[in-house]
Amino acid sequence: MLRYGAVSSFIFLILLSPTRSSLEDGTVATTTRDPIPHFAEAPDYRNEPGCAAPADKVVPSVCDPSLVQVAMTLDSEYLRGTVAAVHSVLRHSSCPESVFFHFVAAEFDPSMSPRLLARVVRSTFPSLRLKVHVFREEAVISLISGSVRQALENPLNYARNYLAGLLDRCVNRVIYLDSDVLLVDDVRKLWDTRLSQSTVVGAPEYCHTNFTVYFTNAFWSDPALSATFSSRRPCYFNTGVMVMDLIKWRHGNYTQVLENWMEIQKRKRIYELGSLPPFLLAFAGNVEGIDHRWNQHGLGGDNMRGSCRTLHPGPVSLLHWSGKGKPWARLDSRKPCPVDHLWHPYDLYRPSGTANSSGSGPVPSSSGDDAKEILMEYASYNLLY
Ligand SMILES: *[C@@H]1O[C@H](CO)[C@@H](O)[C@H](O)[C@H]1NC(C)=O
Ligand SMILES: *[C@@H]1O[C@H](CO)[C@@H](O)[C@H](O)[C@H]1NC(C)=O
Ligand SMILES: *[C@@H]1O[C@H](CO)[C@@H](O)[C@H](O)[C@H]1NC(C)=O
Repeated sequence: MLRYGAVSSFIFLILLSPTRSSLEDGTVATTTRDPIPHFAEAPDYRNEPGCAAPADKVVPSVCDPSLVQVAMTLDSEYLRGTVAAVHSVLRHSSCPESVFFHFVAAEFDPSMSPRLLARVVRSTFPSLRLKVHVFREEAVISLISGSVRQALENPLNYARNYLAGLLDRCVNRVIYLDSDVLLVDDVRKLWDTRLSQSTVVGAPEYCHTNFTVYFTNAFWSDPALSATFSSRRPCYFNTGVMVMDLIKWRHGNYTQVLENWMEIQKRKRIYELGSLPPFLLAFAGNVEGIDHRWNQHGLGGDNMRGSCRTLHPGPVSLLHWSGKGKPWARLDSRKPCPVDHLWHPYDLYRPSGTANSSGSGPVPSSSGDDAKEILMEYASYNLLY
């Protein structure tokens, strides 16, 4: 009913200067609660020699085929993680100016508007190539309200389901990253992952986990449902790091495939977790297996207690604090796990009141902003395919 509505996407440009005064009101308040988190400005990163030259000016910037396209969510709760993740991508990239970030922000973030979130990112990374896409979450809320627990879930967890519609049509491939990751290797290596003809999604696969546990009895005991996997050998994969072929995704209507499973979930309760199982249903057993170094997940500990975990043996290109504990929270509470010290150097957050917190970095200042624009795309989840 909701799906094939008219395309309701329009674009507006935001020039940073006009509403500056309201931001300054927020940033001078150094007492009590601080409405706008402060981040130090990241060091300026430059391409090394040998990076692909940008396409000529006729092509819109975002469509430049030499870009590495990365998508992440942007919200007030995980902002500090997102900023650290972006910082880590730039720091380890040999061609940081060729990375384009797509941020998906919820229209009704509880404490920061998409516009304000965009300003904070812009002031932290003044030369970052980025676009903010506003996600209208109310439609997803109706799809995830199947249980009390899921009703409490952040709708932005489902933003990855809608990237093919949210991002510009010229974006054919995207790397999706959760906000609690750090890259410690060149993102272009992940970007260059070859996806075989039949695969839409690439991710590290884990074939030794017990796949049964991701679905309920209601699923396995219904032959019509469990037949989904009859011609596949499904393995668990983590949806926090994915290389997605958006051409094949759009062709296969995978957003609709995921929504169909969410509709079934509402009626039959075929799984307990939130955003992961629809991905397993759509893709498990048909995923391009990427080297495990690209998702060392679980560093946040288990979902109940957030106990400390150590790194798995072997090379690491990406660290992922999935699970309950987040490194910024554990560092703030002065009970960090050993792995959290790996995250700390990428943290640009500067609590107000600390030295230099009101310096050049943290404030969305006026200097040099005139020419800088953040293209915000106000897009509906229900794009026509
Ligand atoms: C996998 O988990 C299911 C459900 O908990 C259990 O019944 C089954 O015995 C497990 N299989 C293996 C191989 O451990
Ligand atoms: C995707 O949806 C469109 C529009 O509903 C339909 O024409 C097309 O056949 C669908 N493709 C697949 C692979 O299901
Ligand atoms: C503030 O930052 C500047 C430049 O990074 C540094 O030289 C100065 O010592 C810092 N001031 C304080 C109080 O930390």
